[in-house]
Amino acid sequence: MTKRKIIIDTDPGQDDAVAILLALASPEIDLLGITCVAGNVPLELTAKNARIVCELAGRPETRVFAGCDRPMARKLVTAEHVHGKTGLDGITLPDPVMPLQDQHAVDFLIETLRTEPEGTVTLCPIAPLTNIATAFERAPDIIPRIQEIVLMGGAYFEVGNITPTAEFNIYVDPEAAKIVFGAGVPLTVMPLDVTHKALTTRARVEAFREAGRVGPAVASWTDFFERFDKEKYGSEGAPLHDPCTVAYLLRPELFSGREINVEIETGSDLTLGMTVADWWRVTQRAPNATFIGDVDADGYFALLVERLAQL
Ligand code: RIB
Ligand code: CA
Repeated sequence: MTKRKIIIDTDPGQDDAVAILLALASPEIDLLGITCVAGNVPLELTAKNARIVCELAGRPETRVFAGCDRPMARKLVTAEHVHGKTGLDGITLPDPVMPLQDQHAVDFLIETLRTEPEGTVTLCPIAPLTNIATAFERAPDIIPRIQEIVLMGGAYFEVGNITPTAEFNIYVDPEAAKIVFGAGVPLTVMPLDVTHKALTTRARVEAFREAGRVGPAVASWTDFFERFDKEKYGSEGAPLHDPCTVAYLLRPELFSGREINVEIETGSDLTLGMTVADWWRVTQRAPNATFIGDVDADGYFALLVERLAQL
């Protein structure tokens, strides 16, 4: 089997943690490295949390890199109100022993894309796009070398979760998102429209709890993480956003969407960070993204439970 070489760019975050575990549990994936960025919590914590997750998975040899500690052109906005002060609230796990790589995450992205054969590396950003866009600005030659970007971010029908019109990953660094969405790389987007159809339920969380050695931690994270969305939306559970990206690489048939144009609002304070998705193709703007709108939620959670139990 030819493994899919990927780099996960992340701001753990309980849902990021599940995405990382899914990648580490899946033999189809060759996780070249994890690049951390400021987002849900500051960079120092996201770089620590990524290593906590790798050690929980029993994979301390995984290379974890620290990247940008603030957006390209704005002040950092974080989300402790969702993820807790540590970013991984819900269970206390030991501080990491495995080292953080010395190399900056942006340099790792550039070096890896320059040395791996062209078209063989997929980027999975599940956080603000600061690292990715900074790498593109510093080394535009890497852009055509990327196989595909599969990112979690944006929204259309679901509109916004951090403001009335913007999703968090895009809102935190809209200038970075504009660069990435405009780079011309094959781009698949997992917006709130699909992640809000991948809701946790009691049964799904209990299935996590029984899923092998990492199950109890995943269930504790999900128990904590879902309280915010349940209260806000009055839903039975919370959207498990970030693992949708890795699940798409493993089982694309679980998802469906359409090729459309998506632009990023960077000029208006009122709608800053909005993904202006031309879902009904009413403009002449060229499609630049596969915008995913639907998921087989039972299939998604069954994949998660099956794989997490392998760790
Ligand atoms: O809006 C959801 C996204 O913001 C997820 O990636 C979550 O981890 C946070 O980063
Ligand atoms: Ca995230």
